[in-house]
Amino acid sequence: MQAPFYMTVVTIYFIILPFLLASSIFQAVKKRYKLHIKSQVAIFILTFIIILYFEIMIRIEGGFLYYKQYSGTSESFMLIYLIIHILIAIVGVILWAYLIFSSIKAYKHKNLDNKRHKLLGKIVFSLITISSIMGTGMYFMLFE
Ligand code: HEM
Repeated sequence: MQAPFYMTVVTIYFIILPFLLASSIFQAVKKRYKLHIKSQVAIFILTFIIILYFEIMIRIEGGFLYYKQYSGTSESFMLIYLIIHILIAIVGVILWAYLIFSSIKAYKHKNLDNKRHKLLGKIVFSLITISSIMGTGMYFMLFE
């Protein structure tokens, strides 16, 4: 089955997302903190819009159960894979939102715990990157 247009658009975005996040973190490494903060907020909002678009479109089109019948990959494997992917993605996005809100608050009050922030930042980056790679994998399983 040929991939629907929206699915290709969303997949391309998720291939780019880890690079967007990495370039925002790079701004922090270079001590350009204002740019680091602004880019984090912008990437988060953009990602939220893309996820919303995806969630609406996949429901209109019939969802995973509709697409999977055209795939050659084992159904039970795809289901387990999808559940793991969704869990990692949900934890990643919730932690990302928490990190943004708590960091902005702490930054304003000049009491950002750098060590904790860096650790959480790396965890968020890893979770979002794993979700993006797994999502891209799903695209190729469904529409190879
Ligand atoms: C929008 C709210 C945020 C604020 C106010 C903020 C602020 C900062 C500041 C001040 C630093 C420098 C710490 C230091 O080196 O002393 C920093 C570093 C860092 N931030 Fe953020 N940050 C925010 C969001 C994020 C998010 C959402 C992530 C992860 C996706 C992240 C990942 C990192 C990482 C990995 C570093 C360490 C860079 C290095 O190794 O030097 N930050 N951030």
